[in-house]
Amino acid sequence: MKNFLTWEQTLFKDRDIFDSGYVPDQFLYREAQMKSIGYAIAPGIEGKQPQNVVCVGPPGTGKTTSFKKIIEQAEQVSPSNLILAYINCRYTQTHYSVLAEVYKQITGIEPPTSGIAMKKVYEKIARTLVTKNKSMFVILDDADFLISRKIFHDIVNNFLRLHEEYPLSIGLSTVHSTQYPLLDDGLTSVFIPTIIKFPSYSWDEIFDILNKRAKIGLYPNVVKNEILEKITDYAVSKGDIRFGIDLLKRSVISAEKRSSTFAELTDVDNALIEASNERMKKYLNAITDSEMALLNLASDMGTSQAGDLFCAFSKRTRKGYTTFHKSLNKLVDAKLVDSHIENRGKNGRTRIITAKQLSTC
Ligand SMILES: Nc1ncnc2c1ncn2[C@@H]1O[C@H](COP(=O)(O)OP(=O)(O)OP(=O)(O)O)[C@@H](O)[C@H]1O
Ligand SMILES: [Mg+2]
Repeated sequence: MKNFLTWEQTLFKDRDIFDSGYVPDQFLYREAQMKSIGYAIAPGIEGKQPQNVVCVGPPGTGKTTSFKKIIEQAEQVSPSNLILAYINCRYTQTHYSVLAEVYKQITGIEPPTSGIAMKKVYEKIARTLVTKNKSMFVILDDADFLISRKIFHDIVNNFLRLHEEYPLSIGLSTVHSTQYPLLDDGLTSVFIPTIIKFPSYSWDEIFDILNKRAKIGLYPNVVKNEILEKITDYAVSKGDIRFGIDLLKRSVISAEKRSSTFAELTDVDNALIEASNERMKKYLNAITDSEMALLNLASDMGTSQAGDLFCAFSKRTRKGYTTFHKSLNKLVDAKLVDSHIENRGKNGRTRIITAKQLSTC
């Protein structure tokens, strides 16, 4: 390849390799977790009771990918008495919709959207499994959404108690990216899960995963080691490999835009600004007036104590502490401001707020 691209040339061998839903053939550093999940569902293949599992790990640590690969592998096993029902609770956030999705996956038919009691849907699911003589393993991915909606306990409990009324075997895995769920006594009598941890990837592991992705998705020599190293630094500091994969793709697009046959450090800088702008735009579309007022004040003040920021906020908006607190937490979650606690001697602990520069968001 020459040093300049012609208009019809591309640096990507396969662009899909960088999509967020892409399931890599080579899934590194998760052998132990895959083995534990496989071990938990294996009895189901013979129609017996699968083990219950809780998977916990920060975002981008391969939890969803592990289950996608397990489902792929389980579909190859024949004969099998197991039905795997995968639910992404980020998009399926009500008790009824979780149930309806499980029903659809085991029967191939959508249940009515209204006018049918949940108990009836549970019954239909149980009867279908008994008639087909199948066991079932339900995967509740992103189950933190069920916890925040306060329906986690009921859903897990109802599924795991179906065997009390019907002769069937159901196992269940819940997947969490914040913390291990609190299980009360009522639930622990039916749900004593094996815990599978997904730790954050190390710098070397992230570098290796990005390097493999670059090898299969890009033509040779498009990204050199120093580029991958810089992208790895950013992915490590964000604590999410997704950010690294996205930055890699954007950096190569930036190189293409310059008609260059390889990415340079300036392409990573461009990619970083573009990614932050996009995040900011997405966030600004959903921002409330109070959050916008707080963001503006925080930016004007640079670094401030929470108390001072609150005074300025209530003066400008006439809103109280609850709105301030909620808005501030949203800005912190969106990584538009930083917040940390400082010990100030006998004056006690103070929360310090720092507005971020756009390009570091
Ligand atoms: N070990 C790995 N090898 C290759 N790619 C990986 C690996 N781990 C994660 N990825 C990639 O990183 C991205 C995020 O992975 P995944 O969706 O599985 O994370 P997650 O733990 O489910 O995150 P979240 O908690 O946000 O749902 C995917 O594009 C996936 O292909
Ligand atoms: Mg996931």
